[in-house]
Amino acid sequence: MTVRLAVGQMDPMIGDMKGNMKKMQEILVSASDNNVDVLVLPELINSGYVFDSQDEANSLSEQIPDGDFSNALQKWSEGGGLVVAGLCEMSDGKLYNSAAVFGNGRHLTTYRKIQLFNREKEWFLPGNEEPPVIVHNGYRFGVMVCFDWVFPEISRILALKGAQAILHPANLVLPFCPAAMITRSIENRVFTATSGRTGEERDVRFIGGSQITTPKGELLSRMDEGHSGLLWADVELTEADNKSLTKRNDVFTDRRPELYSRITDVS
Ligand code: ACM
Repeated sequence: MTVRLAVGQMDPMIGDMKGNMKKMQEILVSASDNNVDVLVLPELINSGYVFDSQDEANSLSEQIPDGDFSNALQKWSEGGGLVVAGLCEMSDGKLYNSAAVFGNGRHLTTYRKIQLFNREKEWFLPGNEEPPVIVHNGYRFGVMVCFDWVFPEISRILALKGAQAILHPANLVLPFCPAAMITRSIENRVFTATSGRTGEERDVRFIGGSQITTPKGELLSRMDEGHSGLLWADVELTEADNKSLTKRNDVFTDRRPELYSRITDVS
């Protein structure tokens, strides 16, 4: 059975939570009109990205799952869908760059970005938990946020935990991620769905980069930098259960983890 996997691209604006909600709602409506099953929305969709003070960042946050953006996402998922969106999250007086996941009308999990990019380190605390894999309607989805793409360990962990698709809210700045996610797909034999953003905030320009890739590294669709809207593909997620690359190679069973201890050496 195919699943309609979609990514939304838009231009959240710093400080304009009302406008950001309107833009998000337009994508949610479009996703419903087009029978999307699984939807990925950009990072920090409620707040925008380029803060200039901690106070500003705090003032643009919400609690998950009680905030307005969370409520809208939860409501959309009541139709039976799964949605993940990046949110500026306040929890116990601490600010996180988070991805909130809602499915079948319920808040399923929140992942707090563990590798913070550039000035994000000034505003956010890094999360301290492994990225999650959630099960929705019998399929398995991993979640990571933007800059996690540069650490192949994250995609690998999600794949080893059983993810068939990696859902990836992003606000891409560097040009390398779209190509890197094709590699993440190939090395883990998983689908990936990256939702980027467009526009410019203060001194930062975003590259868009929304795309969907397959376990064979095929690019199913990609959205240009200047565009907003919805992009989707109908995918057979069970294809990601086959980890073989050639007749004699399997990207999981060919691994030699006994030789990889350097990767996890914390000394
Ligand atoms: C990023 O992690 N938002 C570049």
